[in-house]
Amino acid sequence: MLGSQLVFRRLILGVAGNPLVSRMVTRHGLSLGARRFVAGETLEEGLRVVAALRARGMSATLDYLGEKVTDLAAARQAASTYCEMLRALSAAGLGPNVSLKLSQLGLTIDPGACLADVRRVVEVAAELGGFVRLDMEESALVDDTLTIYRALVREFPGRVGIVLQAYLYRTQTDLRGLLPLGPNVRLCKGAYSEPPSVAYPRKRDVDASFLRLLELALREAAFTAVATHDERIIREAKRMIVEADARGRAEFQMLFGVKPRLQQALVDEGWPLRIYVPFGTHWYPYFVRRLAERPANLAFVLRGLRG
Ligand code: FDA
Repeated sequence: MLGSQLVFRRLILGVAGNPLVSRMVTRHGLSLGARRFVAGETLEEGLRVVAALRARGMSATLDYLGEKVTDLAAARQAASTYCEMLRALSAAGLGPNVSLKLSQLGLTIDPGACLADVRRVVEVAAELGGFVRLDMEESALVDDTLTIYRALVREFPGRVGIVLQAYLYRTQTDLRGLLPLGPNVRLCKGAYSEPPSVAYPRKRDVDASFLRLLELALREAAFTAVATHDERIIREAKRMIVEADARGRAEFQMLFGVKPRLQQALVDEGWPLRIYVPFGTHWYPYFVRRLAERPANLAFVLRGLRG
């Protein structure tokens, strides 16, 4: 039997994939609850949120929303926007740190052109002393994403990082394969609808996998970002970080708008915390994944429709 969390996620991601539903929600702009998870539609709004977070003791990684572009011109434009974001963050003294999805830079059209574009972004980050994180998307893109990461991390050590998803059976092997490169790893549970042939269907197995991977990453990776809002895992992670003497090689990461009180509590306790801050007009798929993570989030949409 599938876990109820997986059934809910599949249902929401399935319904939301319907073009009629997508048109209905996006017609309302950010007002149907997306505003809670998205900094705004412009770079200026993104920068404002990053500045406000920094004032509260949190660092940030800025994401220009978009995925699965269908032509290389759009991919090139996305890469240029990322270069502009890095320069703007640096100029504002906000720490040039971004997260990007390779499918937004053309991975599914032409992996060679995608590598050239992402290299352009990482070059700018390296010039500015900044950092580029390659988000991880659905399982069909994992091999190509890892190939591009391997190429870039050799060329720009310390300037580029990867994401690994605990729900995939393959991740333990992937992490071990990356360790000789001294990887900077963000570990998350995984946000896509994956079949039981590739991913653990039950939450308890995903959580156990997360903790096993975390233990290995804290011991052997160059840097580990613990990306979760799960308080049980966060408690365990604190203990494991201290035990592995990894305080200077680890940080917590959370999503903008999710559990803000928990975010502040971590910072008040002195733990380093980075917030993932997305902005842009292509917010729909990102918003839908946030809805699929928590049934109660659907209330924002319903409240917006009534209001
Ligand atoms: P879990 O789903 O068990 O939730 C733990 C607690 O947090 C619960 O109380 C839950 O209600 C609350 N919570 C979780 N999500 C919420 C939401 N949307 N709204 C309100 N409450 C919520 N995934 C991926 O596949 N590729 C990637 O590159 C990334 N990148 C990434 C970066 C960062 C910084 C984070 C924090 C997460 C990601 N993710 C991701 C998403 C990740 O895979 C996962 O889907 C979410 O973090 C939710 O899982 P939790 O670990 O929080 O646990």
